[in-house]
Amino acid sequence: MTVSPTDLAHADLLGAEAVADPYPLLAALREHDPVHWSARYRSWFVTRYDDVLAALRDERFSSDRITPYRRAKLEGPGADAGVRAAFEVLEGWMVFKDQPDHKRLRRLLSRAFTPRAVTGMTSSVEEIASELLDGIVATSGGDVDLIGDFAYPLTASVIADMLGVPRADREQFKDWSDQITGLVFGGMGDASRHEVGARGMAELTAYLSELVRAHEREPADDLISAMISARDDRDALSHDEVISTGVLLLFAGHETTTNLIGSGILALVQHPGQRALLGDHPELVGGAVEEALRFDGPAKTVARVMGDDVELRGRTLRRGERVFLSPSSANRDPSVFPDPDAFDITREKSGQLGFGIGMHYCLGAPLARLEASIAIPRAFARLPGLRLTDEPLEWHPVLLSRGMQRFPAQFTP
Ligand code: HEM
Repeated sequence: MTVSPTDLAHADLLGAEAVADPYPLLAALREHDPVHWSARYRSWFVTRYDDVLAALRDERFSSDRITPYRRAKLEGPGADAGVRAAFEVLEGWMVFKDQPDHKRLRRLLSRAFTPRAVTGMTSSVEEIASELLDGIVATSGGDVDLIGDFAYPLTASVIADMLGVPRADREQFKDWSDQITGLVFGGMGDASRHEVGARGMAELTAYLSELVRAHEREPADDLISAMISARDDRDALSHDEVISTGVLLLFAGHETTTNLIGSGILALVQHPGQRALLGDHPELVGGAVEEALRFDGPAKTVARVMGDDVELRGRTLRRGERVFLSPSSANRDPSVFPDPDAFDITREKSGQLGFGIGMHYCLGAPLARLEASIAIPRAFARLPGLRLTDEPLEWHPVLLSRGMQRFPAQFTP
């Protein structure tokens, strides 16, 4: 697809072609209209590396886009109480908070979600990946959906394990997570997504509340117990904050990492030279994961609301306006990444923005890297001759995230 500068007034990242492959449109925006006003989405789109980097570090680009929405749409008579309650849980997420509330939550969670806790998950991730791949080999006859059969159950089980959710409740836990996806990633246009999301949120928080109470009575060696006991000389997380943060971790840890494992495998399938290189040099796996994050990472955009008027490249972003900062575009900016559309697992420089940057830098980055660096090579090792089928790949039609709905593939059983 080529995009001419004159088409850009109507640029639509949710158009069918851009959902399948957003990069030509992002490249055109980066070059011709790097701070783009979209009348369709009543939002700004910022696409150059330097601008995305600076905005992610600039507190005038506020992360609290939930409170204004709740106040405008969910207060007063006629507002759906269930949807409001679901948004109140989202309002407790650190990713939607500005300072000083963000700093407090992040400091306390960092005491529970530690590098040691992540490293401690290594054998569990290996075990879950092997079990899933054994199941695929035993039952599939050579056809596999690498999202539904592998990446998705893998990441769901890992975060559930880490939190301390009993195995028997995993399926249910996954369903709730699916239901709240629409609240967070906003399919745009699907009217039922708020109601479905609110129902899922109510059931998930009720479940977590019970689980937190059980852990309060009887602590275990898991993340829920670590969150309950995370404290410093000043304060600790409240019961509701542990629940809300539990939902955040389940959600943040699951969908995004699924997408990274999917697009990492896809990039290697589509670049056989790089796949062979990784096969011969397994030590390059760290570079391969970093390159997958840069080349086709899960964070298509990160949303902000202007807390103040800001001038950027001759445009005025006014207080209250919505802005989408695009890591996917920044990561293909040729002024930072030479030959940006090439997939090269030996790239020297990273600096990719797939985990964001600044105060909201992804807290789960070490866990995501661990999962991807185990899951991707194991999939190739256990599913020989892994290749695409004739079925077209279907991508989630959402602005914020980039990921496949299904990843049909074949291997030689
Ligand atoms: C490949 C997988 C992942 C990607 C691409 C990703 C991406 C991101 C991005 C872009 C942000 C910044 C959002 C912003 O600035 O508004 C973020 C924040 C966050 N992520 Fe991730 N993430 C991934 C996996 C995970 C995992 C596995 C967890 C935990 C289990 C996690 C937990 C978080 C949390 C708690 C925040 C909020 C941090 C804060 O506000 O201080 N993420 N992530």
